[in-house]
Amino acid sequence: MHATRRTALVALGAGLAAGLAGRGAAAQQPALIRKPIPSSGEMIPVIGLGSARRYEEARTEEDLAPLRETFRRFQVLGGTVVDTAPSYGNAEAIMGGLVADLNIRPDLFICTKVGADTPEQGRAQIEQSFRNLRTERIDLLAVHNLRDITNQLAILRELKAAGRIRYVGATTSFDRQYEAFEAMMRRETLDAIQIDYALDNRNAAERIIPLAKERGMAVFINLPFGRGSVFRATQGKPLPDWAAEIDCTSWAQVMLKYLVSHDAVTCAVPGMAQARYVDDNLKAAQGRMPDAALRRRMEQFIDAL
Ligand SMILES: NC(=O)c1ccc[n+]([C@@H]2O[C@H](COP(=O)([O-])OP(=O)(O)OC[C@H]3O[C@@H](n4cnc5c(N)ncnc54)[C@H](OP(=O)(O)O)[C@@H]3O)[C@@H](O)[C@H]2O)c1
Repeated sequence: MHATRRTALVALGAGLAAGLAGRGAAAQQPALIRKPIPSSGEMIPVIGLGSARRYEEARTEEDLAPLRETFRRFQVLGGTVVDTAPSYGNAEAIMGGLVADLNIRPDLFICTKVGADTPEQGRAQIEQSFRNLRTERIDLLAVHNLRDITNQLAILRELKAAGRIRYVGATTSFDRQYEAFEAMMRRETLDAIQIDYALDNRNAAERIIPLAKERGMAVFINLPFGRGSVFRATQGKPLPDWAAEIDCTSWAQVMLKYLVSHDAVTCAVPGMAQARYVDDNLKAAQGRMPDAALRRRMEQFIDAL
């Protein structure tokens, strides 16, 4: 979350007025619940924004306008964490463009990934990510799906030492990689992991998430809605009475509060390409959270569907 030369210059233009108006609106919203990144103590909101799929192919202004509105709303409501990857089609470059258009780089915590087979490819891909994202500093750079992990982590550590990235991480969303992922977590020092976890997909909570806590790693959650599986399971069903006890008015909020109420989970990054999803999902970073007993009831509820 550092202003680049570019954003500082752009801020002198018309974008400044829009940015200030946005922050004014944000000031009227209840603050988002934040949790610390263990390696630094930096506090980040527990809900971020994922950019896979819906951002991959956007090209025309008609495609981009709803994405820009999504980002604008996200920043106005106090969202900071945005997640992307070089493998998500054009998503990185689209994100870079939206952030520049809205002049909101200083407000964001930008996460991207490296997925390459050799050090040379990794370095080239990372340089392209800096250009795509139009930033001089990436907040979190993570090795994607364990690919060439030892070499790529060495590069990320160099970049961290040089101040070009702030945190180093690793991600997966595949159960078949869990064993290797766990071994890597025991071997390596990381600021963060990113792992798949959802109310109907809880395998990561068995070993990976507790291990992250033990190793002092922040935990980012990908696929928090199981790519929509939790919505298909609950479609047409009224919210249970207990949803009101945790200030939830939608299934999305229920699903997200289950995840971020895990004591070792730092931030979930649901895919959001519509402003109305931002309004809905960021409410999961406000109000009361489920305790251990209610979390168990939530599991029993989804398992019974
Ligand atoms: N290995 C990795 O590193 C890895 C792997 C996978 C994902 N990720 C990251 O995790 C992020 C999330 O994954 P994902 O986007 O694939 O899946 P997801 O977050 O589980 O589901 C996203 C989908 O849920 C729907 N949705 C979102 N908010 C909603 C709401 N409030 N109400 C109703 N529906 C809602 C949207 O569907 P519609 O758009 O169809 O309406 C959206 O596309 C990705 O964007 C990416 O950043 C990382």
